[in-house]
Amino acid sequence: MKDEVKNIKTLEELQNLYTSVFGKNGTMTAKLKTMATLSNEERAVVNAENTELRQLFKEKQTELETATLNAKLATEYIDVSLDCEPENRGTIHPLTQAMKEISAILESFGYSLWTGPEIEDDWHNFTALNTPEYHPARDMQDSFFLENGNVLRTQTSSIQIRAMEKNGVPIKMFGIGSTYRKEMDATHAPMFHQIEGLYIDKNVTLSDLIGTLRALLSKFFERDIEIRIRPSYFPFTEPSVEFDMKWENGKWLEMGGAGMVHPNVLKNCNIDPNEYQGFAFGFGWDRMAMLKYGLNDLRKFYDGDIRWLKNSGF
Ligand code: PHE
Repeated sequence: MKDEVKNIKTLEELQNLYTSVFGKNGTMTAKLKTMATLSNEERAVVNAENTELRQLFKEKQTELETATLNAKLATEYIDVSLDCEPENRGTIHPLTQAMKEISAILESFGYSLWTGPEIEDDWHNFTALNTPEYHPARDMQDSFFLENGNVLRTQTSSIQIRAMEKNGVPIKMFGIGSTYRKEMDATHAPMFHQIEGLYIDKNVTLSDLIGTLRALLSKFFERDIEIRIRPSYFPFTEPSVEFDMKWENGKWLEMGGAGMVHPNVLKNCNIDPNEYQGFAFGFGWDRMAMLKYGLNDLRKFYDGDIRWLKNSGF
């Protein structure tokens, strides 16, 4: 019997053997039942055998359980020293980065951030901006119109109307967001991003505008930027200008439009143009991002290609 226990290989076999010895009809159980008829010496022998066998079973059980556990540990362990796949971390998109930087600069100048809907009504995108229905500037912008007469906003200037309507004057705000026009090449996409600044108070002048633009660009590009303005035309500003900045190669780059807010626009927002005046400026910050980070194809911004983003240093 002892050898039989020692040779057992599995817990299941051990259990079966145990039952055949100590179970209801087990051999040892039977022996123990006859104890009353045995002499003292014979009892001592049975008792010793009983104790020894039980001990043996116990030891065998521990041995088998330990072996099972070790086998499990050997197959299921985790090798924490193994190299894993490199983590694929997300990065901030260059456009988001530029937007955050420009916003932070304008906020530091005291401008507060406003947003507006991308599907705009005619009033905010055109009419209030002194661009009535027959006005040629509506055509200039090649807009995406919806069937109900609304439009995918062609410029963030719509946000300045919303801000003036809601806040009144004095006001120092900037609007930021996506804008839409029908164009597509390496430097133009049908959806692009504009930022618009507006400052209306009693004594705001064109030279304040020029100083603001210069400070904004210099902060963004982290060096002293030379700018120039050229006469231009926008229905919602008078006078209207376009502003350029001198790039590293000495070339003038056109950056955006600006001007003194047209009295009609102020009147449309219930502001008295005889008392208040101010400037507005707007530009695409996709362009700003391209220049600052040295990226040359605008379309890549929208491809969502992580390899390109990584190679761009983001
Ligand atoms: N909204 C003009 C554009 O899209 C830019 C602009 C903004 C011009 C504010 C003047 C004042 O080109």
